Amino acid sequence: MTIEATARAHPNMALVKYWGKRDEQLMLPSTGSLSMTLDEFPTTTTVRLRTDGGPDVLELNGVVAGGDAAARVTRFLDLVRERAGSEARAIVRSRNEVPTGAGLASSASGFAALATAASAVYELPQDTTSRSRLARRGSGSACRSIIDRMAVWHAGTDDESSYAERIDAPELAMVVVVLDSGRKKVSSREAMRLTAATSPFAAAWRESTARTLEDMLAACREGDVTRIGELAEVNALRMHAVIQSTSPSVRYLSGRSLDVFDGIESLRADGIGVWGTADAGPNVVAITRPADAAAVAEALTSHGEVRVVRPGPGARLLEDPADAV
Ligand code: ADP
Ligand code: DP6
Ligand code: CO
Repeated sequence: MTIEATARAHPNMALVKYWGKRDEQLMLPSTGSLSMTLDEFPTTTTVRLRTDGGPDVLELNGVVAGGDAAARVTRFLDLVRERAGSEARAIVRSRNEVPTGAGLASSASGFAALATAASAVYELPQDTTSRSRLARRGSGSACRSIIDRMAVWHAGTDDESSYAERIDAPELAMVVVVLDSGRKKVSSREAMRLTAATSPFAAAWRESTARTLEDMLAACREGDVTRIGELAEVNALRMHAVIQSTSPSVRYLSGRSLDVFDGIESLRADGIGVWGTADAGPNVVAITRPADAAAVAEALTSHGEVRVVRPGPGARLLEDPADAV
């Protein structure tokens, strides 16, 4: 019997955003979404089954976690145990190279790595689709980090039909501009709930995103980078608009974030194909062609720490015991 497994997964950046759930128990999203898995900022997670009868433990970046983070992992492992017919609790050790809770998708790499390692030790199906469905239950966006390069998350109508799948798309690069690596005050989950409960624009957001996903899939098929960038930027700013329209209002973008969007706009005026996006946090990501990435990074470096990223691998097990966290 395996008692320990280690997995690695990377964050993903959505080009069509997931922002809203139709079923919070099953973690079914209101609409489908589409993303690029990054080749930098991995999470590495080791799951070790306990033989001493002690409780689940989450150690994140060398510190034992309590509160919501630990509760989320225990709830996730409860689901895994229910499926596996096991009562064994686990010690989960995880290391994020991406800032945690800063709008750079740590919950995506975190639960994709955990789903992959837990599927191995609890002997659940390890095919890509099964792991994508399972990762979704930990954090919706995590279902896309199971997939390499570019992924579409089919919204689905039940547990079985809601998972992410690889799609073909033209070569892209992203320039991540890290402005603030601190933890957001309102988690993505809470802000999503608040949006559904209080925003007068929530239905319009859902309808426009469903249409944008269709347009984005067509742009990916046609290899139209300009269209991909334009659709992604508008979709991201619409998401931030619906988030700001909650009561009380939540605002993830800072003045400095808007300065980066201005910088991107002026690069575009100079003829460079570059567009902006941002998840639920102040950090901004520029979407561009690989050939323009170095120039974009150079131009944006005065705003914050920049990192050029490309399409990366899906979540996978690491077989070398030296990789254990
Ligand atoms: P982010 O923008 O980083 O995805 P979220 O609010 O969606 O922010 O999620 C942050 C939460 O995800 C953390 O507070 C923690 O509960 C969970 N998380 C992040 N990284 C990990 C990890 N490596 N293992 C388990 N849970 C994690
Ligand atoms: C803005 O997947 O972090 O990054 O499902 O509640 O864990 P939960 O939320 P999460 O939300 C991601 C929101 C987003 C957009 C996206 O990644 O599509
Ligand atoms: Co998240």
